[in-house]
Amino acid sequence: ESSAGFSLPTKYKEKISTLPKHHGWRVNADFYHYQGFWCYSFFLEGIMKSQQHFQAQSGDIILSSAPKTGTTWLKALTFAIVTRHHFDDSTNPLLTTVPHECVPFPKLPLLATHLPYTSLPNSIMSSHCKIVYICREPKDAFISLWHFICKLAPQEEEHVPLEAALDMFCKGISQYGPYWDHVLGYWKASLECPERVLFLKYEDLKSDTLHYIKTLADFMGCPFSLEEESEGVVQKIMNLCSFETLSNLKVNKTGMHRSTTPLATKNDVYFRKGNVGDWKNHLTDEMVHRVDQITEQKFSGTGLMF
Ligand code: A3P
Repeated sequence: ESSAGFSLPTKYKEKISTLPKHHGWRVNADFYHYQGFWCYSFFLEGIMKSQQHFQAQSGDIILSSAPKTGTTWLKALTFAIVTRHHFDDSTNPLLTTVPHECVPFPKLPLLATHLPYTSLPNSIMSSHCKIVYICREPKDAFISLWHFICKLAPQEEEHVPLEAALDMFCKGISQYGPYWDHVLGYWKASLECPERVLFLKYEDLKSDTLHYIKTLADFMGCPFSLEEESEGVVQKIMNLCSFETLSNLKVNKTGMHRSTTPLATKNDVYFRKGNVGDWKNHLTDEMVHRVDQITEQKFSGTGLMF
């Protein structure tokens, strides 16, 4: 999700160079069209490798999302749930490590991806491992993504204007987009196989966090006991993973993610406002209408609503 324009010295380079291309939301970083979605070349190499070689185990839990829809929060919550017997309030790695570096974690079954459902490595399908998907209201996902892309760019780089970014987003040209197709892929899978695919919305998680933490624990096969519930364990996980707690930790204010790689990113870019409906502060009526119309068209008859 980060830094534009470094070279790709691999056997995949040639294959990537044959793919349809479109300029991305950053200078010098083109999107490539691969298997129906748009992606930067520096992620495509890993994607192609994972599709060829990744071997899922039946106990794995795959956390999936389009960018900026609640990935960081989902990683923190699932990590806190599955490790609740290993750490106490002061030793939890979430206090000193950005959630993106807690997933994956040695000996834990959690893995994360932004890939669309139909592009997941075959072994994820054949091993029947569980998938948790989080999505977000499209206008909020767009606003969050636009801010994120602007923050990633070095100061001297010109930012993509909101209007131009929205135009691309609406045309489906965004990281792992079309956004609506990404959501629909997992939505349909969750309807077909609810015991294997849990579909969550950022907005629901915000409005009833305790309930969805329990839903997550049940789904992942580690439900809270009555004793745990009465001791306030669910509440503690909610507080530990809240935007307020995580965004105020030193590691997330000043630390770096992937610090030794060309994709090094400051941890604070993953924490902006954490609100529902921030689009109201950025989009004109016309822009709102344009996005809402696409949402209505794409989701009509699917049972999915925001
Ligand atoms: P905003 O830009 O609207 O504030 P992702 O984790 O998929 O990159 O998504 C980032 C969005 O989730 C950002 O939204 C960010 O502020 C928000 N976020 C990060 N951590 C969160 C948390 N613990 N609780 C709620 N929202 C969180």
